[in-house]
Amino acid sequence: MKTTDPSGIDFRKKFELTDKVIVISGSCGLIGRAFCEAAAQFGAHVVCADIPAANPESMAAALSEKHGRAMLGFSLNVAVKSEVEALKAKVLETFGRIDGLVCGHQNKSHLKFEPFEQVTEENWDTVVEINLRGTFLLCQVIGSYMAENGKGSIVNIPSTYSVVAPNQNLYKGTSLGCPAAYSASKGAIDALSRYLASYWASRNVRVNMITPHGVWNNHEDKFEKNFAQFSPMQRLSFNHEVAPALIYLLSDASSYVTGDNMLVEGGWTVW
Ligand SMILES: NC(=O)c1ccc[n+]([C@@H]2O[C@H](COP(=O)([O-])OP(=O)(O)OC[C@H]3O[C@@H](n4cnc5c(N)ncnc54)[C@H](O)[C@@H]3O)[C@@H](O)[C@H]2O)c1
Repeated sequence: MKTTDPSGIDFRKKFELTDKVIVISGSCGLIGRAFCEAAAQFGAHVVCADIPAANPESMAAALSEKHGRAMLGFSLNVAVKSEVEALKAKVLETFGRIDGLVCGHQNKSHLKFEPFEQVTEENWDTVVEINLRGTFLLCQVIGSYMAENGKGSIVNIPSTYSVVAPNQNLYKGTSLGCPAAYSASKGAIDALSRYLASYWASRNVRVNMITPHGVWNNHEDKFEKNFAQFSPMQRLSFNHEVAPALIYLLSDASSYVTGDNMLVEGGWTVW
């Protein structure tokens, strides 16, 4: 609306996702679960997309029951183009539209830390294939639909470790670590997101990122203590602290925001 007078603007309404269809990959994961619940609370029809073992169908059924609104669960491997195309077809058949895409999947093998000197090509490829190719395919297949349609919001998830290097002291005395393939794949997701923000800006498709950091998941005590030492806020975060950023980026509240990487990292990268 072309105005200098904000008094007629309904600012609460800007955050609503009422009847918007939002596809969320990695929906059954730690952060994906919070994304789905938050989007549902703001009125969306949520499409829960995850691997078959995660059972996104049952998650969608539970969300539907709780919120009294149609949701969809869809099992797929995001790194396989035909499966991503099948996802798009099913969502359009069910709802007739797609308003938002959230690429929240990740490959878990990075949680089993391997020293860089010992990383095999196979492990490298698996991480890059799922994290990067999966995000590329979802953006290509679903983002292209949005561009054709002249509207949409995409939110990709890189990592603090595409912004800064992991502080190796964080992992001292723990079984955890962050491998190079994870950082590299996330850095590429960051670059891809900026590319697409520019590429699709004139088609009214916004492409942004959320960078979470250290989301609490029953971590070992030693890791939690180490983390507190290096974090300005002296604690891990919680998945429900990441999800509000998603509502902002998916909704009209961020209508003039594209190419942004919203850091939800407790100030980790400020010092
Ligand atoms: N947890 C953190 O502290 C943290 C920090 C920074 C960034 N991130 C990023 O946030 C996102 C969510 O992280 P999380 O902690 O919820 O991860 P998670 O491991 O709990 O969830 C990831 C989900 O992705 C799904 N997935 C894996 N491979 C897939 C495939 N091939 N196709 C479809 N789905 C697949 C998994 O089944 C799982 O449900 C990831 O991109 C992660 O890299 C997380």
